[in-house]
Amino acid sequence: MKKEETTVLVLFHSKGGTTYKLATAIARGVEKQEGVKAVLKQVPPINAPENLESKAFASVPYATPEELAQYDGIAFGSPIHFGGTTADMRLFLEGTLNLWSEHWLEGEPATVFMAAGGGAARETAILSVWHTLAVHGMVLVPTGMRGTAEMDKSITQGNTVFGTTTLAAMPGSERPSESELYLAELQGEALAKVAKALAPLRHKAPTPTPPAKAPEESINPVEQRLQELGVQLPVLPEPVGNYVPFTRSGNLVFINQVALKEGKVLHPGVIGQDLTTEQAKEATRQTMLNVLAVLKSATNNDLSRVKQVVQLTGYLNTPIGYTRHAELMNVASDLAVAVFGEKGKHARAALGASSIPVNSPVEIQAVFEVE
Ligand SMILES: Cc1cc2nc3c(=O)[nH]c(=O)nc-3n(C[C@H](O)[C@H](O)[C@H](O)COP(=O)(O)O)c2cc1C
Repeated sequence: MKKEETTVLVLFHSKGGTTYKLATAIARGVEKQEGVKAVLKQVPPINAPENLESKAFASVPYATPEELAQYDGIAFGSPIHFGGTTADMRLFLEGTLNLWSEHWLEGEPATVFMAAGGGAARETAILSVWHTLAVHGMVLVPTGMRGTAEMDKSITQGNTVFGTTTLAAMPGSERPSESELYLAELQGEALAKVAKALAPLRHKAPTPTPPAKAPEESINPVEQRLQELGVQLPVLPEPVGNYVPFTRSGNLVFINQVALKEGKVLHPGVIGQDLTTEQAKEATRQTMLNVLAVLKSATNNDLSRVKQVVQLTGYLNTPIGYTRHAELMNVASDLAVAVFGEKGKHARAALGASSIPVNSPVEIQAVFEVE
């Protein structure tokens, strides 16, 4: 008889990325248990952190409270904010009311890990999440004294007997430290072990179906993603010559844009001479937003019709000898992937130009495949 795979959700909220790093270590630990698969998801943020698209966790999918019952175990991770979990994770947990009244999470193993700054209230912060999980009747998996013998004791570590933390504000060492990541892996492995053992005993919940939405209320997934990223597309830039904002040939759409913002070039001039790298990145982001605004018009206001971001070519107004083109174009590439996920992955070229129309520091040529 084919054995069903045990699946553990590693669910995190992160603003700066530290909790995400712990979450990936937890997931690695989970998968060390044979036959256990880790699924990494994040809590939808109340307010997207600034420049979310440049964060390593930007493309990690969002979880819904309803799906928690489908897993054989869950690791919950959050930064510590004022001695507790973040408002974002708290809001997500508030959304589990229906699961609680239907007893869906009873007997499901759970563990908690957190990213701290200095470590204020880190143990009580983990316990504050435990309280909620206990109300659900979940089986709490602590870390105990796991890994303490092997830990590097020359620096303060974020270990607690309840779950792993990291002390991100400790000066002089990279955080999470090697030892903290090691403990997180052990924690993931411990959860996976319990999840695997209990999976056959727990009733497996059918996939809960979220309440059906009337078709007119259904949200376009790409628009929703833009909202989550806090991205507002600019007003469609007007052509400044005898050309059109885009052309379509078959299923391919071709777009060229410069760094115009509200009718003026954002940070005009030569990169590295008239503008800093940071300003050049802002200009590149603005250019890519202009490309997306045109693309929206090319898809009759329905960006979910984009099948693939095919190619991006970035021309950067740079002096001879300049070499950081790729770093600047990453801003455009990261935005494409953050908005379109897998479909956002593209081929790319980035090159220097001695001047660009209207003294823009950047021009992007983009090719998209659409339905
Ligand atoms: C509003 C706020 C409150 C915080 N409160 C605490 C706290 O009580 N204890 C602590 O150790 N760190 C505290 N921190 C620091 C964060 O927990 C720490 O920076 C964490 O590593 C951030 O994780 P992230 O990079 O995943 O967002 C606080 C940070 C913020 C922004």
